[in-house]
Amino acid sequence: MSRAERKKDHINYALSAETEKKNSFDDVRFVHNSLPGTSVSQIDQSVSIGELYLSSPIIINAMTGGGGKETERMNECLAAAARDTGAAMAVGSQMAAFKDPAEERTYNIVRKVNKDGVIFANLGSELTLEQAKQAVDMIDANALQIHLNVIQELVMPEGDRDFKGALETISEIAASLHVPVIIKEVGFGLSYETVAQLKQTDVQVVDTGGNGGTNFAAIENKRRDEPFDFFNKWGLAAVPSIVESVHAASRSISVIGSGGVRNGYDIAKAIALGADAAGIAGKVLAAADQGGKEGAKRFITKCQEELKMVMTAVGAERIMDLKYAPLVLTGESKHWLEERGFP
Ligand code: FNR
Repeated sequence: MSRAERKKDHINYALSAETEKKNSFDDVRFVHNSLPGTSVSQIDQSVSIGELYLSSPIIINAMTGGGGKETERMNECLAAAARDTGAAMAVGSQMAAFKDPAEERTYNIVRKVNKDGVIFANLGSELTLEQAKQAVDMIDANALQIHLNVIQELVMPEGDRDFKGALETISEIAASLHVPVIIKEVGFGLSYETVAQLKQTDVQVVDTGGNGGTNFAAIENKRRDEPFDFFNKWGLAAVPSIVESVHAASRSISVIGSGGVRNGYDIAKAIALGADAAGIAGKVLAAADQGGKEGAKRFITKCQEELKMVMTAVGAERIMDLKYAPLVLTGESKHWLEERGFP
């Protein structure tokens, strides 16, 4: 199966798995404030992550790697939604463009459509410094995302089997690249220990990618004759992953909360748990698949509106204020965090 076919498979599986399922964000509730003392017109959603300024704390996360006409169309659609809403956007893995330079247009359409937006390049941790620079230059990116997808690779019959040296590579690239580096998980959740290791490098931002949304173990297991089913429930759920990452980052690294984010309410919860911004992949893909660029735009705008309403309800005029909104944690997330010793 070619890389483009495999990526198309990912999109189809991700879309077919897309439902309003429950996840760890349901374990979080805000404490009601009957005297919030603010008004909707005062809400400011701008935020900084690392050295980047975002007018909106929403990131359309990486999905469109693999190349091909369909990827290009999806990138164009997501880029237009990002431009019209002020959301940041990551392209999918650019490895396909290194294998076939004709595929570069699949990615640089994003910069053509969204000239002034915040755009992230994307590669896996097997990258070289040279490739990191090329990926950034290809789309004039504001930052580089490096994804960590060990479990996905292990479940893929043709996947990588050697994960040595990733931290050293990340460290070298973060120290030398001219734009900030973001390290992201893809659905298995960054842990305290992983973020503590990344903190020893020049990485500016981590994207927690916990479970509860797109499940790459389940997706890849569908292609295996003998599935590794135990990986389908592997890793940290989104909420514990955000809390662990925020503790480890202890303000010297910015945190993007992600994995199963469904709406503006989940975004508000991610931020109240300590994240600076939130990433959404599967849900934006579904909105774009159903309604094209207008569908994706409507979905992001709705998330922004919902976030604004929650911020007003809890009296948080700025993203920073939302981090101090009181929360109650229940269920498995509470249990996990107690077991792990996080308050
Ligand atoms: C992804 N994701 C992803 N991540 C990455 O860093 N590079 C990539 O090329 C891709 N490709 C990709 C394709 C498709 C179809 C999906 C749905 C996702 C992972 C994505 O950015 C995100 O980390 C996870 O999907 C978890 O977020 P959601 O989907 O639960 O919001």
